[in-house]
Amino acid sequence: MALWGGRFSQGPAQSVAALSRSVDFDWRLAQYDVRVNIAHVRGLEESKVISNTDASKIIEALRSLSSEIEEGSFSFNDVDEDVHSAIERGLTQKLGPLGGAFRAGRSRNDLVVTDFKLYIIDHILEIAQTLTLLVDALNRVSDEYKGALAPGFTHLQHAQPINFGHEIAKHSHAFLRDIDRIHDWLNRNSTSPLGSGALAGSALQPHPEKRAEELGFSSTLLNSIDAVSDRDFVAEALFIFSLIGIHLSRIGEEFTIWSTTEFGWAQLADQFSTGSSIMPQKKNPDIAELARGKSGRLIGNLTGLLAVLKGLPFAYNRDLQEDKEPIFDSVETLQVILPAVIGMIETTTFDREKMASGAVSGHALATEIADFLARKGIPFAEAHESSGACVKLADSLNLEVHELSDAQLQEVHPQLTPEIRNVLSGAGATSSRISLNGTSESSISKQISILNSENSSALTWISQARDSFSRMMSNSQ
Ligand code: ARG
Repeated sequence: MALWGGRFSQGPAQSVAALSRSVDFDWRLAQYDVRVNIAHVRGLEESKVISNTDASKIIEALRSLSSEIEEGSFSFNDVDEDVHSAIERGLTQKLGPLGGAFRAGRSRNDLVVTDFKLYIIDHILEIAQTLTLLVDALNRVSDEYKGALAPGFTHLQHAQPINFGHEIAKHSHAFLRDIDRIHDWLNRNSTSPLGSGALAGSALQPHPEKRAEELGFSSTLLNSIDAVSDRDFVAEALFIFSLIGIHLSRIGEEFTIWSTTEFGWAQLADQFSTGSSIMPQKKNPDIAELARGKSGRLIGNLTGLLAVLKGLPFAYNRDLQEDKEPIFDSVETLQVILPAVIGMIETTTFDREKMASGAVSGHALATEIADFLARKGIPFAEAHESSGACVKLADSLNLEVHELSDAQLQEVHPQLTPEIRNVLSGAGATSSRISLNGTSESSISKQISILNSENSSALTWISQARDSFSRMMSNSQ
């Protein structure tokens, strides 16, 4: 159903209808559209543009439309241009001409951006909640392997031994930052565009701040031109989704490499790996690879939207219809990838012996020699030089640096006394790193308890925000 047409003597060409039609994807906004319309009708009632009786009839009809959408008995048809025209058609079918009364004083320009903001709030909160499950899974694995020695890498070369729990816990921090970014997004973007009309504000809707409150926003946007044109909140959400994707891709890369025969650290569960149609022996880390690969499309959605926004004139332009699919795609991508990654993390087992066997190879204890001398008051440049000389000597003898004898060490530097053996082992090296950020088992335990408490605080605010959002959505009486 067209929402315009009075000045036209012909309807749009088929190609134009096909180009401008957005209902196939923006139907996802249907329930938010109903809710925003109810808030709008209350405003019209308040300003006496619509009588109390008519307002009640319209709200009643909108509420029953909402149930029909929920049940699937009302949906869009071939001629609806977008979700807004479909809803108005549904209303007109119920109420006759009164069904067209409710759009006085508002435009699709303020309606669509308000609907869309509600959609993002709803879904970004759902994603935040799923992230707490991911952090929880990571924390549990970290705790299980907090005492398991493994090589730590820089430049993909053995660097220093670490405890594997530390390696896993680093991911929890990244996802907790993502959750925090969502919190921050929510605080900044809890602003209502409704009541801005096409661009100049509405003469028939004098109290947008009341509509904002009804829809659960903290405030109303103060400039109607800004309100209908701003898509910063969309770009920011897509950035957050991209960063979550990047964090998932780095986990994906690790699980892929850890499950190679060469590494042999990770054994993926059957349920969370896939086979090959030709090579019967294969057990592939497809979930990890998809987590890595899907980050590409999440980033693509962000850059696509930024390109639409660049240089766009104010106020509303139809280009802005292109804001929705990137968000829908990013949300739906995360909705499928997150549960699979959580399952993969929860079910993978790690080979402690295999990880420990490589923990001190590649002269990974050379830093311990330098640190030992530095603790004895030797200037670090000299300590570093001597440790390098130990590596050279060990290499020439085809040994690892910790395999040099006491005499050989002392030959390199007289201060390399036998107490160095306390730190010249994987366990010695890791357990000496007792600062809060260090890789000792005791530090990891403290770290995990902090991570757990940050995660439960996150879950508290997310649950509260989700509860009040669903109260707002159902409070349409
Ligand atoms: N489908 C449009 C969108 O998503 C709705 C707004 C249309 N406004 C207009 N002035 N044509 O942006």
